[in-house]
Amino acid sequence: MLFNSRPRFISFVSILIVFFFGFFFLTQEFIQQDDFVNASSNWLKVKFKTYLSVKNKFDHGKWTKILSHQDFPDYQIRLKEPKLCDSSVQQYSGYLDINEEKHFFFWFFESRNDPRNDPIVLWLNGGPGCSSLTGLFFELGPCTVNEDEANTTINSYSWNSNASIIFLDQPMNVGYSHGSKVSSSHAAAIDVYAFLQIFFQEYSQYARLDFHIAGESYAGHYIPAIAAEINNNNHGTSLWILEKNPKFLLHINLESILIGNGMVDPLVQYNYYADMACNSSYGPVLDNVTCDRMRYYYPNCAKLIKECYDGVTATCLTASMYCDNRIVLPYYLTHRNPYDVRKQCEGSVVGMCYPGIDVIERYLNRDYVREELGVVPWIKYGTCSSSVHFRFQMTGDLMKPFHILLPPLLENGIRILIYAGDADFICNWIGNNAWTKELEWSGKQGFNDAKTRHWKVQGDKSTYAGEVRSHKGLTFLRVFEAGHMVPYDKPRSSLDLLNRWLLKKRL
Ligand SMILES: *[C@@H]1O[C@H](CO)[C@@H](O)[C@H](O)[C@H]1NC(C)=O
Ligand SMILES: *[C@@H]1O[C@H](CO)[C@@H](O)[C@H](O)[C@H]1NC(C)=O
Ligand SMILES: *[C@@H]1O[C@H](CO)[C@@H](O)[C@H](O)[C@H]1NC(C)=O
Ligand SMILES: *[C@@H]1O[C@H](CO)[C@@H](O)[C@H](O)[C@H]1NC(C)=O
Ligand SMILES: *[C@@H]1O[C@H](CO)[C@@H](O)[C@H](O)[C@H]1NC(C)=O
Repeated sequence: MLFNSRPRFISFVSILIVFFFGFFFLTQEFIQQDDFVNASSNWLKVKFKTYLSVKNKFDHGKWTKILSHQDFPDYQIRLKEPKLCDSSVQQYSGYLDINEEKHFFFWFFESRNDPRNDPIVLWLNGGPGCSSLTGLFFELGPCTVNEDEANTTINSYSWNSNASIIFLDQPMNVGYSHGSKVSSSHAAAIDVYAFLQIFFQEYSQYARLDFHIAGESYAGHYIPAIAAEINNNNHGTSLWILEKNPKFLLHINLESILIGNGMVDPLVQYNYYADMACNSSYGPVLDNVTCDRMRYYYPNCAKLIKECYDGVTATCLTASMYCDNRIVLPYYLTHRNPYDVRKQCEGSVVGMCYPGIDVIERYLNRDYVREELGVVPWIKYGTCSSSVHFRFQMTGDLMKPFHILLPPLLENGIRILIYAGDADFICNWIGNNAWTKELEWSGKQGFNDAKTRHWKVQGDKSTYAGEVRSHKGLTFLRVFEAGHMVPYDKPRSSLDLLNRWLLKKRL
């Protein structure tokens, strides 16, 4: 979810991790070479066992496997096979490690239907700084957390009904992920690509399947960056490939991307906050004076965003402070839910105005859950990290243009679905509808000329569930009566949407 970006100063809490090194002595009394070989291999065995037991004490888990890849010498994947949430399917969880610096948490669930043939979907929540496990437990994953915060219940509308799903906590220090490096959407993309290469090399049965990236909110930044990285690497044209000349890369079958209530093109999207607040189908939630003031500030805001788009990175931060304070903040001051104009903000602020999200956070901080997933005991799970948000803001990432990465994907036959629940404020459908129409690509005219059709959900032909516009590879879908998290508000329709999309059927 897009996490409120009111400027504020965050106090950093640094965690000091002390590693203990053992000092081992080797006595040398060897006469014959064979003896030496035997003795040293035994010595190595013993020391390796000691090392592992020390490492496991910190890692909390006994890994099923540790995967590596010749083209990514700095990367490895440590994984377990947990049985939480949906014990009927094969699962993997663990970390993508990059040197000692970065540790990305992931959790994979096989499809409940036909994992040998069903596609693979990578799911990402936004923020920047929010965990993808909110997507898992609150929106579209195989289970929900019970009110007792101790156990889970199966979600029969899970998106793993007909697809295998990977939930990934990125960038650094989001959810169960931990590490030290500052990040941006572009920097995160190469790490995700490495993850896919290592994972698919080991589990080659998944590598030949269709691959899709889906996500929400600020993932409107991440997804175009990751998709562009994959597409460029598939074509061998990325700088990285040209420099490193890797030898063992697999083609990643990127077939489509799906962005729900995304923040993709801030220049266009910031123009529609006033309309959403004062002229939506749900009635006004701010007074006209406030909305007129929001409209009044837009031209200046747009000027700053344009400079940021033109590459003046220093202006990106100024733009996000200026625009958020004048155009977004008035809504937050009403204490209405920023993800749903129909609701007041309930629960805690860290719970993003949904009490159910606090429940998930407490569940994921239980020791037995962490242990089962292989999460180090000293990582405290948080739904969203304000320090990650702050760092992204400081690098200017928030206002950078990510829609410009989409036309090359469309030209390469990668389908794009932009969907939006129409009660969301923060990444509202009006702004998303507008930027899809303004996007410069070969199908622009055709997309703008296309008729807006009724969207109906399978098995419920009578309900007019939304509106859809589609031309060639680009589809925009407005989902009626849903907020920012469409699968939370409309579990049944959203599963139907996903399944039809994955099967390349007309929506
Ligand atoms: C080395 O160890 C193997 C088995 O551990 C044993 O069969 C062999 O005889 C040993 N060689 C020497 C030279 O001790
Ligand atoms: C959670 O529920 C499942 C199914 O009802 C049960 O088998 C399992 O023991 C429960 N786990 C805990 C920790 O209570
Ligand atoms: C989707 O999966 C369900 C079981 O999870 C199965 O009954 C159904 O036939 C599948 N649909 C398709 C189109 O594969
Ligand atoms: C309000 O929305 C309606 C329907 O989308 C539109 O026709 C009208 O021009 C809008 N009014 C204002 C003041 O923006
Ligand atoms: C706000 O503006 C709209 C459109 O200009 C108008 O229809 C509405 O009556 C106004 N509301 C108030 C409270 O003035």
